Amino acid sequence: MYKAFYSLKRNPFEITPDPSFLFPTGRHNEALAALYYGVRRHKGFVVLTGEVGTGKTLLLRCLLQSLKQSSDIAYAYIFNGLLSPVEFLQYIAGDLGIPAVSKNKGELLLQIARYVIARSQKKLTTVLVVDEAHHLSAEILEEIRLLTNLETANEKLLQILLVGQPELDDKLDSPDLRQLKQRVALRSHLVPLNSDETKGYIQRRLELAGSPSASVIFPPETIAAIYQHSQGLPRLINTICENALIAAYGKQMPSVSPDIIDDIAKDFRLGVQTPKVKKEQTADEPDVRKAAQTLLALYANLQAQQTREEKSRMRVPVRVTEQ
Ligand SMILES: Nc1ncnc2c1ncn2[C@@H]1O[C@H](COP(=O)(O)OP(=O)(O)O)[C@@H](O)[C@H]1O
Ligand SMILES: [Mg+2]
Repeated sequence: MYKAFYSLKRNPFEITPDPSFLFPTGRHNEALAALYYGVRRHKGFVVLTGEVGTGKTLLLRCLLQSLKQSSDIAYAYIFNGLLSPVEFLQYIAGDLGIPAVSKNKGELLLQIARYVIARSQKKLTTVLVVDEAHHLSAEILEEIRLLTNLETANEKLLQILLVGQPELDDKLDSPDLRQLKQRVALRSHLVPLNSDETKGYIQRRLELAGSPSASVIFPPETIAAIYQHSQGLPRLINTICENALIAAYGKQMPSVSPDIIDDIAKDFRLGVQTPKVKKEQTADEPDVRKAAQTLLALYANLQAQQTREEKSRMRVPVRVTEQ
């Protein structure tokens, strides 16, 4: 409803993770590159953790979008960690399109293993992606450990990406899962944005939504208030900004004032809290950096393409017929 008033072509602060809105902070880039590199180089087992709302699912969607473009990659994408072991294996098999799926755990494992081996013999890559992996039971993590056994002397046959909240690390630290933990080849951790990144994030989203005057809508003092109340958590930034635009539009204000942000924070009962920040743990091999650059270029292209498409749509003459 506020889009026309602020000259926006689409909603800038949707909560659903949309790859075309990716704001590539150094850390998001490195995490995305670690996922990409892990799959492409057959590293086997990659773990990404981060507090809720830091952009994990968004990164997975970005990754899957680029993997989809490669005909040599098949993946199963599980985003519900609350499955039973049989359901979990059935889901993987179903997603990979393995026919005649069994109800027996052992048989299912065997069917999946045969499929993965047959693909690797044809030099094809198979990936298992689990989002919300902090919910996985010890039993399922044990099935995953069995799947990580699929390997040759040189490489892993099934690429496994586990993505979840920091509790996932705690689970992997438990003595029973030591063997699984030892197989983690790459690990990344996402943290909230800092104040400069928060500013860049808000401006980028407004620009991608078509705003010609991002810094007029959200002036620096308003962004400072958003950072203070959100502590740089992207999901919270989106919620605050979306509500701020609705409130400011209601008052027909071309600029969102800091008071509006404070009121929203009160409505949402956002106390100013310090999020748990973990020690930096990023993969820093040169290959990962190179992959980050490739991906950055990929997304710059994607965003440019989207802008071009939007422009050409605007050029289409519209005829209005009165009836
Ligand atoms: N680097 C980023 N660039 C653009 N949007 C982001 C970024 N990080 C997070 N977001 C946005 O924040 C919201 C929460 O991200 P999400 O991936 O669902 O978090 P998580 O899975 O870690 O809980 C989504 O709307 C997502 O698009
Ligand atoms: Mg998520």
